[in-house]
Amino acid sequence: MKKPTRIIRAGLDKKRNGGVVNTPVIRASTVVYDSVAVMRETHEKSLKREKVLSYGRRGTATHWTLQDALTDLAGGADTVLTPSGLSACTIAILGCVKAGDHILVSDSAYEPTRLFCNGFLKDMGVETEYFDSLIGAGVANLLRDNTTLVFCESPGSHTFEVQDIPAISAAARAHGAKVAVDNTWASPAFCRPLALGAHLSVEAATKYIVGHSDVMLGAVTGTDDAIAGVHKAASAIGFATSPDDVYLATRGLRTLGVRLRQHQENAWAVAQWLQAQPAVKRVLYPPLPSDPGHALWKRDFTGGSGLMGVLFRETSPKAMAAMIDGMKLFALGFSWGGYESLIAPTNPQRSAKPWTEPVPGVRLHVGLEDVDDLIADLAAGLDRFQAALP
Ligand SMILES: Cc1ncc(COP(=O)(O)O)c(C=O)c1O
Repeated sequence: MKKPTRIIRAGLDKKRNGGVVNTPVIRASTVVYDSVAVMRETHEKSLKREKVLSYGRRGTATHWTLQDALTDLAGGADTVLTPSGLSACTIAILGCVKAGDHILVSDSAYEPTRLFCNGFLKDMGVETEYFDSLIGAGVANLLRDNTTLVFCESPGSHTFEVQDIPAISAAARAHGAKVAVDNTWASPAFCRPLALGAHLSVEAATKYIVGHSDVMLGAVTGTDDAIAGVHKAASAIGFATSPDDVYLATRGLRTLGVRLRQHQENAWAVAQWLQAQPAVKRVLYPPLPSDPGHALWKRDFTGGSGLMGVLFRETSPKAMAAMIDGMKLFALGFSWGGYESLIAPTNPQRSAKPWTEPVPGVRLHVGLEDVDDLIADLAAGLDRFQAALP
């Protein structure tokens, strides 16, 4: 089956739903049993990750539908749902480490992932070393005896470097380390990190999977050997996700293919237009042939989403504020992946290699509005920006 068909069909189980197309919202904490023996047997199955109704925290058919769908789309053994995208990143890491371990994290990782590594993980006795996102197979030189995980965010959601996941995975696998990839920019519609050699594919479902800016949710899909550790960590910590949120995510997932096609079409037109503007130094968008990550993107991805960065030849915080504050369609806000366009100033944090490009830049999420309207909004914004430069 081709990807758009799989997005529609994945996880659908007529028997589970009693004929209803969408698995209904099944809310549960307590589940009651007919006997002690049945209770014990069900609990044991649940501990083995079998999808049986045992206790609300362990999920209901509402959760299993999304888990099965994401497992199918990512090509993994199972999926763990988490209360947010950030918790998907952190539980993927926690599932692979113990005190005394060393992990490698791509310098493209967004700030909250870095804060977790630099604070909580450090206090737990796990050392984080950041590596140049473009190092590829060179990651082999950084692997130590106690390195258990390489964590990538590809492309980086602020700086858009595409990482060579096959080369990184080959080096890590030869060393016995696992690889986790934050795949939120592409979503499972446009990239499958597990097929490229990674062990864990992390999604902030809050973004494109939910797609409507109204739910926080995360998901980690993994190979059999890697997902067991993530499941253990999530169970030990006591993660639970609301069936109402999970229902909305599954509903969002069904239109992921068509939404992303439109995000891609609009983003492509916006990126081309921006590239031709004299004030713009560079557009950070891997589908552009001029982007340094273009060859890897072409090899490993099947499409480009709506998120891109813009660097300016000259910039200033005052000019940035003049542009952003007057936007009519691009709203100022955290997050991305919903149907609407967003804009935010960027000032990337780096550890392995300094960020030397002019700051602030901007990050755009190109939504599903008419692209001519979006470009008109950006053109007026750039006029305000230039008028306010020193
Ligand atoms: C690349 C990436 N990963 C993870 C997250 C975290 O997602 P959430 O906001 O659902 O915690 C974000 C959110 O901005 C993100 O951009």
